[in-house]
Amino acid sequence: MSDTAANQVLHQQIIARGGIADRTLQISGISWFLVAALGQWVFVYYLLAHYPPIFAKKGMPGLADTSMPGGYVPGDLAGNLAITAHVLIAIIIIGGGPLQLIPAIRNRFRAFHRWMGRTYVTFSVLTSTAGLYLVWTRGVPGGMVGHLAISLDAVLIYLFAGIAVYFAVTRQIDRHRRWAMRLFMVVSAVWFFRIGIMFWFMTTGGVGIDPETFEGPALKVLYFGQMFIPLAILQLYFNAQDSDRAALKIMAAITVFAATTVTAVGTFAATMGMWLPRL
Ligand code: HEM
Repeated sequence: MSDTAANQVLHQQIIARGGIADRTLQISGISWFLVAALGQWVFVYYLLAHYPPIFAKKGMPGLADTSMPGGYVPGDLAGNLAITAHVLIAIIIIGGGPLQLIPAIRNRFRAFHRWMGRTYVTFSVLTSTAGLYLVWTRGVPGGMVGHLAISLDAVLIYLFAGIAVYFAVTRQIDRHRRWAMRLFMVVSAVWFFRIGIMFWFMTTGGVGIDPETFEGPALKVLYFGQMFIPLAILQLYFNAQDSDRAALKIMAAITVFAATTVTAVGTFAATMGMWLPRL
């Protein structure tokens, strides 16, 4: 074979390898998204079946009957309104978030995408503000590390929401898409926390978690991991998409497939061990 022919064969092989690697990466992303969307809608089903019937029957005092230790505080109207709004808004943003990431919906129903996008950003910012108010006035289980980590999540939500909106308004659509995905990850942090902790209990029995105080080294990792692990994997996925290196694409795909498995197991554990028993 001449040098030119050999070069051509080599070139075609590289392109084929790149094609397979790109396809594998894409399939890993789609697999994770399908599992996560399903898992988030199971969470929404629990929220819908749990909170609105309680509010309809007993009003805000019904919060005292929920799984939240400090749900209802007599006389604290602002706090009670904040937690009521917080759980009802969760239904809208966790239910609607995955719809924003489906290309077919985005491309075919642009008016819906814009309307849902404005709703998502506004409610994410509002509910984070309600959450901040609750954390720093009422406190939650988890100690100071937990308080600081969830407050940092609120700050990231404000920041990413602002950046995603800026790129949408200035029509920098590719950048808008990536920042909207980062926003989706930090808004979903509380869901990652729930499936993460149930995954940990299912696979280790809860090593590093004190069930009395709801503190411990594993929880400290999870408080920050709930946002930074998904953000890091997403960044790896973006880097692999932009790169020409097939090895990086395959490594990112393997990471995303592993994340898909953890997400599926965590969702199963949270559904069976946390959400369904409360209904
Ligand atoms: C933006 C995405 C968020 C969603 C979707 C969300 C969702 C929820 C839900 C559904 C609950 C009720 C617990 C349950 O039934 O599982 C809850 C409780 C709570 N959330 Fe959020 N949350 C978000 C962000 C935040 C942020 C950023 C903070 C604080 C800065 C926060 C603070 C709280 C507090 C204090 C409670 C009450 C916990 C208790 O009393 O046990 N949330 N949240």
